[in-house]
Amino acid sequence: MKPEIAGSESPMLGDLIVGRIDELAAISETEKHLTRIFLTAQHRAAADLLLSWMSEAGMRAHLDAIGNVCGRYEGERSGLPCLMLGSHYDTVRDAGKWDGPLGLITAICCVAELHRRGRRLPFAVEVAGFADEEGVRFSSTLLGSRAVAGTFDESVLNTRDKAGLTMREALQKFGLDPDHIGAAARARRELLAYVELHIEQGPVLEAENLPVGVVTAISGATRLVAALQGMAGHAGTVPMGLRRDALAGAAESILAIESYCAARPGLVGTVGHILAEPGATNVIPGRASFTMDIRAAGDTGRQAAVAELIKQIEAIAQRRNLAPAITVTHENRTVACADWLKAQIADAVAKEGYRILELPSGAGHDGMAMIDITDVAMLFVRCRGGISHHPDEHADSADVETGARVLLRVIDNFQPRRDTQT
Ligand code: GLV
Ligand code: MN
Ligand code: MN
Repeated sequence: MKPEIAGSESPMLGDLIVGRIDELAAISETEKHLTRIFLTAQHRAAADLLLSWMSEAGMRAHLDAIGNVCGRYEGERSGLPCLMLGSHYDTVRDAGKWDGPLGLITAICCVAELHRRGRRLPFAVEVAGFADEEGVRFSSTLLGSRAVAGTFDESVLNTRDKAGLTMREALQKFGLDPDHIGAAARARRELLAYVELHIEQGPVLEAENLPVGVVTAISGATRLVAALQGMAGHAGTVPMGLRRDALAGAAESILAIESYCAARPGLVGTVGHILAEPGATNVIPGRASFTMDIRAAGDTGRQAAVAELIKQIEAIAQRRNLAPAITVTHENRTVACADWLKAQIADAVAKEGYRILELPSGAGHDGMAMIDITDVAMLFVRCRGGISHHPDEHADSADVETGARVLLRVIDNFQPRRDTQT
């Protein structure tokens, strides 16, 4: 029988993890806000730090073809298929420091603990730090995990950031070859499963008074960009009835999105960015574009909502004599966590002495891409007030410790699916 990790034998991992979360959070575009975006100097500095932690933990570590950090801890013999753990290390703008880094750093620290004990398992353990999950720079998300899953869409290489740089150019500037992203892809036979620990980003665990929870599924999402073309003009001379004000059309559309989603439980719609052009106080906006992020627990409900909202925006545009152009920039189906993995996570939660609570994830995660190559599962850690994508995001060190101990148990007792035994 495999030795179990008894409570008293494990050192405290929580403090080490929280210290590293702070260290990584210091790598930011600005001192006042935490912003770490794909293919920037901060991406590079964070990657170097993470790679050094991976090497210290006894892993072979490298930066892959898209800028992910990858660490591998061999099993009882080299070359075995791996249990992959991971999360992302890019952030949104003015972010919290836990979204992504908690899962990544906890995974590295768990491997460091195996290494400290000299423990080798009948499978390898790999840690993936994904370079772009949030999709802030190029609108398309899950770039790092899609590259690993072999589903990276090469057409996004031509997408431009706000400064006009294409992703292809940004990769080259970073020192990566955009024509070799395929080299980051892994073969299905190399992976036994993908397991991610993440802060909940919602209020359920706090309300249930639990430090951790087992994720059932990751909700699908559709992201779109809508552009409304009107006619710019003089703010003082064009009577209200003769205007083709694109920004007013966008404003009406945004309110329509809000009221449509608010009337349907489980459906959420967000307009997170808007641009009015030419953008002057005394010029009627001739063009307005805005993003939309639509999510629901089920794919059918989300797809129906997207179709209806497109219709409503087109109707608003027609009534206001504006030309609409609406494009889908990202679409992910709802991903179910694998029952056999959920059972192993639940078992570890119970062995740590906690009630098992299953809950869905409203936020997107790299598992949505990894599902194309292996089975996925997630463990949520409670965060204060359910706050996320905000600098007030916070997890208590005691909960971080519990999350780490559960993850360590999952790794240590991991049983591959019977048909993929190593
Ligand atoms: C990622 O954080 C997302 O759900 O947008
Ligand atoms: Mn996020
Ligand atoms: Mn995240």
